[in-house]
Amino acid sequence: MSVTISAQTVVELPPAIAGGTPAKQTPYGKERRYGEEELAELEAALQQETLFYVQGKKVHQLEADFANKNGVDYAIATSSGTASIHAALIAAEISPGDEVLVSPITDMGSIAPILYQGAVPVFVDLDPRTYTITPAAVEAAITPQTRAILAVHLGGNACDLAGLTALAARHNLVLIEDCAQAFGCTYQGKPIGTIGAMGCFSYNEFKHISSGDGGLVITNDEQLALRLRLATDKAYNRSAQGTERNPAFLANNYRMTELQGAVAVAQLPKLDSIVARRRAWCGALSEQLADLPGLLLPQETLGCDSSWWFYMMRVVPEELGADATEFAAALSAEGLRVSAHYIGQCIYEYPIFTEHSAFARGEHAYMQRQYGKGLCPEAEAILETCVTLAINQAYTDTDLAETVTAVRRVVAWFQQR
Ligand SMILES: Cc1ncc(COP(=O)(O)O)c(C=O)c1O
Repeated sequence: MSVTISAQTVVELPPAIAGGTPAKQTPYGKERRYGEEELAELEAALQQETLFYVQGKKVHQLEADFANKNGVDYAIATSSGTASIHAALIAAEISPGDEVLVSPITDMGSIAPILYQGAVPVFVDLDPRTYTITPAAVEAAITPQTRAILAVHLGGNACDLAGLTALAARHNLVLIEDCAQAFGCTYQGKPIGTIGAMGCFSYNEFKHISSGDGGLVITNDEQLALRLRLATDKAYNRSAQGTERNPAFLANNYRMTELQGAVAVAQLPKLDSIVARRRAWCGALSEQLADLPGLLLPQETLGCDSSWWFYMMRVVPEELGADATEFAAALSAEGLRVSAHYIGQCIYEYPIFTEHSAFARGEHAYMQRQYGKGLCPEAEAILETCVTLAINQAYTDTDLAETVTAVRRVVAWFQQR
């Protein structure tokens, strides 16, 4: 195949993997994640003489700020993204034997809570370009046991929420949005997490904004909000007047502390700028790589404005002349922050599924289901061929130019081999 890569001589130089000089000549732009604002909030939290959310102000303030920012009635803070999803499943009354439809490419934090409820994760296949569950695959997987759809907005890009909302309504399913990777994303102009019955967020160290660990669930449904609060706090009913200990359902301690709340309060006003800069950088990258052969660039779901947690492209080995492992190795030699195959294998290929080893003994409904390679061919193909660039809002125009040069140079070289 003959290809015009670029008129720029710079890409015709040999790549670093073939002894050339790495395209990345300057350190990546970076900025401090936590600063004076977080320190001030932390100091104020400590001066309260309590770090317990019921008595302090920071977690309550975070909940109010987050609800306000997203235009929803309720936000309930939690100790992690995993806890958020578990609290949402509890609030939705997901029970042993229920089936929950979910993506096979996600973090175990999406999946473990399903198993802890005694419910059965049912993995549905993905769109090859947006990496999110398709309504068609979801519909095909619905059975009388299906109770919920957990829509994972991977890498900052929303699922087809119009399609999923319609399906959820038609089949009486609860639509829960896993927004752990998608802070700041919008779908049809609405903030992510506000379209399903509940939206779950993660404040872990690696997300757009962070409090080290932490999470949040948003909803407009008062009943869900009441159950969510109980679901994060052992189903104890707390108020300034005291604690009622008469739990009516099973719940863990998933409380956020005032220290996490303080940092999260200071982080929230930074989100818009973080997302805007990621959008600009990734948008420019897509424009400048659009003509390259052998690469499938990420596509935003129709109606979605992604918040770009990462930038995941796919290789077409027959066209590129290299597979994902080779391509990532060559880009890495150029000095890029890059990795191949994302999580390596679909969640259902982990031993916890193939060997049903979630618990050492006893029965669990998911043991009735066979898991293993072949369940979701498109998801497996995505992982086989994907190469992920780590993204940071502090990346500069120089980072962009060097990244483009690196990718173009490496593609040209693989093409000529
Ligand atoms: C899609 C997704 N869901 C859930 C989680 C779990 O979040 P946490 O690590 O805060 O428990 C993560 C974390 O990486 C995630 O990426």
